Order: sequence, then structure tokens, then C-alpha cells
Amino acid sequence: MNAAEQAASKRNAGYHAAELVEDGMTIGLGTGSTVFFAMECLGERIERDGLSIVGVPTSYQAAIRARRYGIPLSSLDEHPILDVAIDGADQVDPDLHLIKGRGAALLREKCVCDASRRVFIVVDPAKMVEILSAPVPVEVLPFASVPVSRRLAALGADPNLREGMKKDGPIITDNGNFILDCDFGAIADPGGLEAAITAIPGVLECGLFTACRGKVTVIVGEEKNCLVVSLH
Ligand code: 5RP
Repeated sequence: MNAAEQAASKRNAGYHAAELVEDGMTIGLGTGSTVFFAMECLGERIERDGLSIVGVPTSYQAAIRARRYGIPLSSLDEHPILDVAIDGADQVDPDLHLIKGRGAALLREKCVCDASRRVFIVVDPAKMVEILSAPVPVEVLPFASVPVSRRLAALGADPNLREGMKKDGPIITDNGNFILDCDFGAIADPGGLEAAITAIPGVLECGLFTACRGKVTVIVGEEKNCLVVSLH
């Protein structure tokens, strides 16, 4: 798949998800290039049809982009239950377990996912895999990053402190924390690994999303249309 085909796939997935949004809904707004297409479509529907929605962004980047598209914003304080979240993913397996967090927004993304009645995951076909194997991002308290690294290594990972681009040293998440990218190789038990990682003191969250799969609908954008996958 070349870059133009991938962009068309992402656009189709994002637009398909945004077309499923109904008037009056509260929407979790994920982070990443595919969700931006959904936001673009929501912005068009707001301007063209007077669609009335409120978005809860999962990152500074999502908030900045949503404002650009004219999407009114709120917070989980005001809207602790959301109708639907639209988010991207880095890998999706056939049981709809996800790896997320390339954009380092995984902590707020998981909060928004948990707060949402339904979750639309928008991806291009390259994200669909038989077994999850991408490095799992883990958001850690800087104070505890060294002991947490040791605990993650004991679980079989090769943890790497994520470095900033156009910034010296580690990236700092929107929540003031570090990210450890943890290569576990092929992940045989995503739910068990998620539970083991998140049980480590000093871990705020990890990029494995397994508990939400019952309410997830994966929208796989293809060049001309979309494939829609869910367990329900
Ligand atoms: C950010 C994420 C993104 O949703 C994920 O990385 C997918 O991004 P893209 O749509 O740009 O491929 O988890 O933390």
C-alpha cells in the first residue's frame, strides 16, 4: 500500500465513523491521523447540517484539531458517560484486542474508551494482524521509571524510554509522564499481559486495550469503501 492509498483508506475509515454519529451525541475524540479525518467530517456536518455534538478530546493535539474543525469541546467532568468514542489503533487482532499509544495519548484514550458506551476504532488495513506484536507503550511516573523498567523486563519486555523529536531527552506526555516502549514479541495472552503491566506500581496505563472489545466496532478503511468488524 503506497502513501496515497493509505491516506485514502484512513480517510474512508474516518468519514465512515463520523457518518454514524447522530445529532445530540457526546463523542470521545481520539488522537492520530485517522481520527483527524473523522473530525474533518464532523466539522463538515456541523457546518453543513447543523449537527449538534460535543467532543471530549484525548490530547492537546486532538483538542487543537477539533477546535480547528469547529467541534465544541467539553470534559469528562461535564460528560462522564459518552455516547461513542472514535479512535485509532496501531494493531488490531481478530479478537479485537488493540495496541494503541504511538501518539503517547494512551492514558486519556483509555479513560475515554472506558467512559464511552460504544467505541469506533478507525484503521487502515495494515493495522489488522493475526497476533499482536508491536511494542506496547507504557506510560510511567518519571519518579518510578527505573524500577518499572526492571519489572517490565522481568515480564519479558525490552523497555525503551521514548525520546522526543525536536526535543532532547525523553518525551513528556500530556499528563507529565514518560513512555516506555516495550517489545514483548508476539503476545499470546493480551489480556493477561495488560493486567500484569498495569499492576506494577508507577505504571499509569499501557497501550494494550483488551477489556473494551465487546463495545468496539473496528472500521477498516479500504481504498474505495470500508470493512466493519465487531464481536456483537
Ligand atoms: C495515539 C494512538 C493512535 O490512535 C494510533 O497510534 C493510530 O494513529 P494513526 O491513526 O495516526 O495511525 O493510539 O496514542
